[in-house]
Amino acid sequence: MIGFFDSGVGGLTVLHECLVSLPAEDYLYVGDSGHFPYGTKQPDELQRRAVAIAQYLFEQRVKLLVIACNSATAAAGPLIRQMGEQAGVPVITVVEPEAEIAAAISENGRVGVLATPATVTSGAYRVALDAQRRPLEVTEVAAADLAPTIQDDLSFDEELIEMVRVYCEPFRTAGVDTLILGCTHYPLIAPLLQRILGRDVRLVTAGHAMAGAIQRELTARSILSLSSGEGDYRFVVTGDLDSFAESGARFLQLPLGHRVSAASIPATD
Ligand code: DGL
Repeated sequence: MIGFFDSGVGGLTVLHECLVSLPAEDYLYVGDSGHFPYGTKQPDELQRRAVAIAQYLFEQRVKLLVIACNSATAAAGPLIRQMGEQAGVPVITVVEPEAEIAAAISENGRVGVLATPATVTSGAYRVALDAQRRPLEVTEVAAADLAPTIQDDLSFDEELIEMVRVYCEPFRTAGVDTLILGCTHYPLIAPLLQRILGRDVRLVTAGHAMAGAIQRELTARSILSLSSGEGDYRFVVTGDLDSFAESGARFLQLPLGHRVSAASIPATD
């Protein structure tokens, strides 16, 4: 079984790609919706949440752990990788896979990052983009209210369009040709971003990048499921079950229904 976690439903955009490209695997997804949003939390609080959930998933004996949340990766990625090494469980996170793709596909070397305040403040994307083999001009925009708007009430109204237009302005001014969607909630507004930025700007999402990285890691460790059928997937949620199941179906594009159950995963100091 592969473990996933996110602050709520956003990481389901990554799980979606895995259910499509690695259908034989079993998945357990923790949605920490009782503590959503992560993107405006302080790093220490975010780290405590992420560590508690990682510990919970290690106890469920997952064979690989995926941090499907940019804000959690930014605050606790290295620490959870260390925990994974001790537990003998590989840990795959967002951020680096998208940075690699962006550096590879940008033609003019101008890359934008749209992410939560927690992710932008951490500098995680800047570090990951600086580590690529070419110099890049990076423009980052912190979007405090975008993930909550997408999660709670995604009606494509004028207000949302105006909000996204304002966030996109610095990318247009900088002339970026590649934009990293640095929050797992944002693929749901990809068409809107594409329209505002123009069709020549390439959008990089975590989903595709992560599914490839997960497959490579499972293959390298000889733990890829070789079964030809469809595996199981289920969800453990720290917040309201009905609203997770309802908004989750939009993100996953598959039914969640009876697969969702509740858990309280307290953080320890
Ligand atoms: N899905 C989370 C991320 O990728 C952000 C949403 C939140 O603010 O909790 O950063």
